Amino acid sequence: MSKRPITVAYGDGIGPEIMDATLRILEAGNAQIEPEIIVIGEKKYQEGHSSGIDNSAWESLNRTKVFLKAPITTPQGGGFKSLNVTIRKTLGLYANVRPCISYHPIITTKNPIMDCIIIRENEEDTYAGIEHQQTQEVVQCLKLITKPGSEKIIRFAFEYAKAYNRKKISCFTKDNIMKLTDGMFHKIFDEVAKEYPEIQTDHYIIDIGSARLADTPERFDVIVTENLYGDIISDIAAQVTGSVGLGGSANIGHDFAMFEAVHGSAPDIAGKNIANPSGLLLAAIQMLVYIGQPETASLIHNAWLKTLEDGILTGDLYKEGIHKKKVNTTEFADAVIQNLGQKPSTLKPVHYATGENKKIEGKYTMTHKTEKKLVGVDIFLDWDEADRNPNVLGKILDSISTQNLKFQKMSNRGTKVYPDGNPATFCTDHWRCRFVTNNYAIAASNQEIIELMQKITNQNLDIIKTENLYTFDGKLGFSVLQGE
Ligand code: NAI
Repeated sequence: MSKRPITVAYGDGIGPEIMDATLRILEAGNAQIEPEIIVIGEKKYQEGHSSGIDNSAWESLNRTKVFLKAPITTPQGGGFKSLNVTIRKTLGLYANVRPCISYHPIITTKNPIMDCIIIRENEEDTYAGIEHQQTQEVVQCLKLITKPGSEKIIRFAFEYAKAYNRKKISCFTKDNIMKLTDGMFHKIFDEVAKEYPEIQTDHYIIDIGSARLADTPERFDVIVTENLYGDIISDIAAQVTGSVGLGGSANIGHDFAMFEAVHGSAPDIAGKNIANPSGLLLAAIQMLVYIGQPETASLIHNAWLKTLEDGILTGDLYKEGIHKKKVNTTEFADAVIQNLGQKPSTLKPVHYATGENKKIEGKYTMTHKTEKKLVGVDIFLDWDEADRNPNVLGKILDSISTQNLKFQKMSNRGTKVYPDGNPATFCTDHWRCRFVTNNYAIAASNQEIIELMQKITNQNLDIIKTENLYTFDGKLGFSVLQGE
């Protein structure tokens, strides 16, 4: 078998230590890979690349299409983009697959039975990174949920469940609050589920879902969810299995794939040679399956399980009096190498079958076009006068209209404050002023919105943004105000 070129980044913090351990184990296991090393992250940020990656790294990635990546430190504060998010989005890695498995009775955990795959949408949601400060007091982050993005990840989850003989998929959203965004994700989940009657499904509101995942993880098999929720629950789930150091993940796209640990660069323990390399190693094992080397993946995975079973553990997992030996990163890798060829006896051995690298695709099929009608506009104002008395602003807006657009009501942070607001409602300097056509029955035009904006500006009011209000096939494409 010829060696498969892969791109490798040693990353920041504990990255070099755990990557070194991982690559040594892969080499000892005779993985047929040819690593191309790229430098990304902190060093590149310091050199002035605000994205943390340069062209030569992209060239390698475009060539190999498979990336084994150690964690990267994301600099805090303005100006720097998260490199992880950039890579996932640039390469179209829409599916993040995070197995969370408990290793009872070897690894102490409150939840001995856990074998759950978290499938996290990887490209959109608040991770679109579109943020604006609009007034002195208010900043906004756009949460973008798209039909193609949702269908792709949901279909991927069903195809994954089918391919790996999983019985149930749970969808996590917060659609009791975000009725349009999360509501659409949930609806698409229900639609796609109809095509897979052999797979059971259920839905949890994210808060109770997370609580149950932490408390009774055995109730979950596959979980599919949006980007932010997936990020949070996969750390919870990895921690429930014993340590965040145990979580490995695959980021899968149409043409590219990236494999990494769930955890970050752990600067608090960097350079001490004590980090657990297991998360990155388990990610590398997923990579071997993906590139068609399942036997090597099984060999290494079983050697790793045997090492756990021998009670040879890094400090994050080791318990005095229960386990045999506390080891550092290098010694842990040595122990796994020693165990190559052996299988665990208490823990279940792993067998990746040939052909298991079958490509799982999350297709987008829902292209049904609806009739879109403009029925109004939300005009957002920065207004900080008259002690922010909504009645003062409301009275001014009452006098402004166009032929079809009339002022309807005003909200502050989503709560209705005019007409008939409650004086107890706290008001910031950020006002949403809704102008609509009569009962949404008549269509307005963009020209009319411009006319309206001109009239508002003539009153010396400061427009900071607008959102058009549409109906789609007669259904409202916008949220109603709280308190309506
Ligand atoms: P973290 O995951 O790096 O660390 C959280 C805690 O877990 C720390 O106490 C750490 O010592 C421990 N830990 C993590 N990995 C471990 C391992 N392999 N063995 C033993 N203990 C381990 O999260 P934190 O501190 O919030 O983030 C640090 C940096 O990593 C940040 O700059 C963050 O942006 C970045 N990060 C990068 C990711 C990536 O490259 N995919 C993912 C998450 C965070």
